[in-house]
This record gives sequence, C-alpha cells and structure tokens, in this order.
Amino acid sequence: MAEIVIRNTNERITGEENVRTFLQNQDVIYESWEPAKLPEELQNNFILTDEQKNTILQIYDAEIKDLAARRGYKIWDVITLSDSTPNLNELLNKFEEVHTHTEDEIRAIVSGKGIFVIKGAGDIGYFDVELSAGDVISVPENTNHFFTLMDNRQIIAVRLFIEENGWVSSPVNDPDFKKA
Ligand SMILES: [Fe+2]
Repeated sequence: MAEIVIRNTNERITGEENVRTFLQNQDVIYESWEPAKLPEELQNNFILTDEQKNTILQIYDAEIKDLAARRGYKIWDVITLSDSTPNLNELLNKFEEVHTHTEDEIRAIVSGKGIFVIKGAGDIGYFDVELSAGDVISVPENTNHFFTLMDNRQIIAVRLFIEENGWVSSPVNDPDFKKA
C-alpha cells in the first residue's frame, strides 16, 4: 500500500482512500495487483533469470492485458534492481534527476519497494509516493518526476510502454526542486 509524503510540509498521507484521493487529484493513476500471486521463491529474489522474468509476466498476464487494453500499452518487461545490480549507485544517481517523458511512466511493483518523486499541481510542490509490492502507478506524461529506491534498495517491477522507441527522457532543471 502506497504512502505519500509532501516534501514542503512533511505531511504524510496514509490509508487507502486518502492515498487514492490524493493521487486522483494529481492525475496519477493508482491501482493494485495481488502481490501474493508471486510464488515465494520469486518474492524476494532480486537476481532473476530471463525465464523467471517471463514467469512473472505470465503470472500477471491478465492484469497486464487489462491495462494494455485500457491505456494502449504495446510492450512490457520486468526489471529488477538491488545491491546485486552492477553499478547500482551510478544508476541511482542517474535516476535521481528530475525529468519528463512524452508518454506516461507506468510501473507495477511486484516485489520490494521504490519511490516516485512527482511534482504536484499548484502549491503542492514535490511529493514522494512510497510504493510497495502490489502498487501500480502511472506518472502522467510531461510531469516532472524521478524514481529511486528506498533504504532496502530492492525492487522488481513490471514496466509497460506505448512505443518501444518513443520513450525519451527530457531532463528538467527545476529551481523548485530541492534534494531531500
Ligand atoms: Fe521517468
């Protein structure tokens, strides 16, 4: 279950209805998948073979096809990040730059944790969406954001894309963004 932290005020928003309402008001899609569908041997295994990644896609096939039918995604894959990922610190440094995309960035967290930092509308400023297994989130297109890991530095996520080659990241130098 996701939780929100509004960076300007340190306000933490918890509870399914509150989180859902807040994200809805920010045009952020928030849904959930059943994390228990993942067999135990895949739930905390952050070094996955291609075969295991395919197994995860098969397990969530109905959820993926449903999202694709509603929102036009054409391709999908599984990514995993952990301390076993080569150059994880370098990767995270690169991730932690505010940027936008011309299509939305949708991620279904199937194991582990992660954070999307998103620029809210109006006076809200940047807010963190702390995600755990089962959370599905979509950052709207052309919205300032970045992704990073939480302290446990472990995640498995399904990514969906509308266009294989259309997903370009544009860096944004935003004076409103202050690193936490
Ligand atoms: Fe992004």
